[in-house]
Amino acid sequence: MHIRKATIDDAATSFAIRREAIRAQCHGHYAQRELDVWTSGEMSHVFARRVAEHFQVAIVDGQIVGTGMIDLATGKLDAIFVLPAYMRCGVGRAMVDHLEAMAREAGIREISLESTLNAAPFYRALGFEGEGRSSYTSSLGVTLTCVPMVKHI
Ligand SMILES: CC(C)(COP(=O)(O)OP(=O)(O)OC[C@H]1O[C@@H](n2cnc3c(N)ncnc32)[C@H](O)[C@@H]1OP(=O)(O)O)[C@@H](O)C(=O)NCCC(=O)NCCS
Repeated sequence: MHIRKATIDDAATSFAIRREAIRAQCHGHYAQRELDVWTSGEMSHVFARRVAEHFQVAIVDGQIVGTGMIDLATGKLDAIFVLPAYMRCGVGRAMVDHLEAMAREAGIREISLESTLNAAPFYRALGFEGEGRSSYTSSLGVTLTCVPMVKHI
C-alpha cells in the first residue's frame, strides 16, 4: 500500500468510498434517516475541488481504498474513509500516520478531528483523546452527533 496526494480524477472514487464507508459502518450509531441524508445526492463541484486540493488517497494494487485530509492551517483531520472490503487491514491507521507526519513536518503540535460515534475506538487506538459530544452539520444539512478528539504529537 502507498499513499499519494489526490488529483481531480480521484474525486468520483473518493465520493463513492465515503458513501460506502458510512453506509457500512455508521448504521447502529445513527438513525437510518440521518445516514440516508448524509450519503444522498450526487458529487458536488465543491467536493471535487476539495479532493483535488486537499485529499490524500491510499492505494492497494492500483486501486484507491481509502481517503483522508489534513488542514495544515488548523491541524484538523477530515474525510478518513476506508472501502469496506479493506477495513481492519491497517489502511485507516496508515492514513492517520501519514497525515500526522505531514502535520509534524509543518510544525503542528496538536491534531484534532470530529469523530463519528462508530470511529472513536479506532482513533483512541491511535492515541487520540476525547469523551465529549459535539454536533457536526454536513453540507447537505444533516446534523450528526460526533466526538471531538485531539492528539498531541
Ligand atoms: C474508522 C475507519 C476509518 C478505520 O479504518 P480501518 O482501516 O478499518 O482501521 P485499521 O485497520 O487501520 O485499524 C487500526 C486499529 O484501530 C482499531 N479499530 C479500527 N476499527 C475499529 C472499530 N470499528 N472498532 C474498534 N476498534 C477499531 C483497532 O485497534 C485496529 O487495530 P487492529 O485491527 O489491529 O485491532 C474505517 O473503518 C471507516 O472508514 N469507517 C466508516 C467511516 C467513518 O466513520 N470514518 C471516520 C470519520 S470521522
